[in-house]
Amino acid sequence: MQTQLLGTSGIEISRLAYGCMRISGSWDRHEVSRDAVRRGIGILETAVEAGYTFFDHADIYGDTTCETIFGEALAQHPSWRDQLIVATKCGIIFPDQPTPGLPHRYDFSYRHIIDSVESSLERLLMERIDLLMLHRPDYLADPGEVARAFTELRAAGKVREFGVSNFRPSLLSALQSALDFPLQVNQVEIHPYHLDCLTDGTLDQCLERKITPMAWSPVAGGKVASGYAPETKADDYEKQVSLLEALDLAAKAYEIGRTVIALAWLLRHPSGIVPVVGSTNPDNIRAASKATDVEMDRPAWYRILRAARGEGLA
Ligand SMILES: NC(=O)c1ccc[n+]([C@@H]2O[C@H](COP(=O)([O-])OP(=O)(O)OC[C@H]3O[C@@H](n4cnc5c(N)ncnc54)[C@H](OP(=O)(O)O)[C@@H]3O)[C@@H](O)[C@H]2O)c1
Repeated sequence: MQTQLLGTSGIEISRLAYGCMRISGSWDRHEVSRDAVRRGIGILETAVEAGYTFFDHADIYGDTTCETIFGEALAQHPSWRDQLIVATKCGIIFPDQPTPGLPHRYDFSYRHIIDSVESSLERLLMERIDLLMLHRPDYLADPGEVARAFTELRAAGKVREFGVSNFRPSLLSALQSALDFPLQVNQVEIHPYHLDCLTDGTLDQCLERKITPMAWSPVAGGKVASGYAPETKADDYEKQVSLLEALDLAAKAYEIGRTVIALAWLLRHPSGIVPVVGSTNPDNIRAASKATDVEMDRPAWYRILRAARGEGLA
């Protein structure tokens, strides 16, 4: 698989990241059996064999079990530690955590960031996280307080590089202005069903600051494969059909599957979008890696954009 650099860090990553959100198969840690752990490790082995070297986590995935499974996989494959770049996120706290009655909330406080990193390091069985992202903007975020936590984690060698996720450009700038080192990533939702980042300044800012955009749910959580069923009577059903037709046309031209074309469409953007592949099916994981071989031409890219917008250009 082709590689690229992570922001301005000099760290080499695979053009596609592998997203670990689904590897435990459950969002409840009590439901994750030993068989599920073995299956999760097998999924990671498939991704490594297929050439992915960049792995995306969050403390909350699988109610913490996705990081734990990754730690077990690393223990079984010690050579992976030097071979793989491991990212994780913090900042989301689900309802009733840590005690019943507490609400769903975001937390970018100094204490929460530091404690989250310590817990992730323990689960991942790693000394240092390669990339730490703040998961979703905390309405009460104080850039100075976040910068204090980041600076301390960096100086202690516990985190190598930092980034954000789901950040609007103005909040990213506010945080950057409090930091002495560059943010390397903004991980955002981008796929043909969600085009906001193309026009809301997010990708412009990545281009300007040489920040790597990571695209989460790059095949819309599977919708690019399946489309809408007609019986859902979705308002935009006609638009969805023409989008799938446009993707199929390009898929035929490049002799590749429809979901792989959707990844290639993201890869074509000059900001160096890194799609975060979330499939747990070995065939789909391997097929996705072929997207980096496609050099999509401008007319093909615009045909998909037009169909995704559901209207022509001005
Ligand atoms: N920062 C954030 O806020 C945020 C939010 C969500 C996700 N993420 C990250 O993004 C990653 C990817 O998210 P995602 O899993 O929603 O992404 P995705 O790759 O768009 O969707 C994967 C889903 O699509 C299904 N699918 C069906 N047909 C497929 C095909 N032909 N090829 C590929 N997938 C197919 C997969 O099923 P099969 O397994 O059967 O293939 C799987 O359920 C996550 O693992 C996580 O790391 C980040």
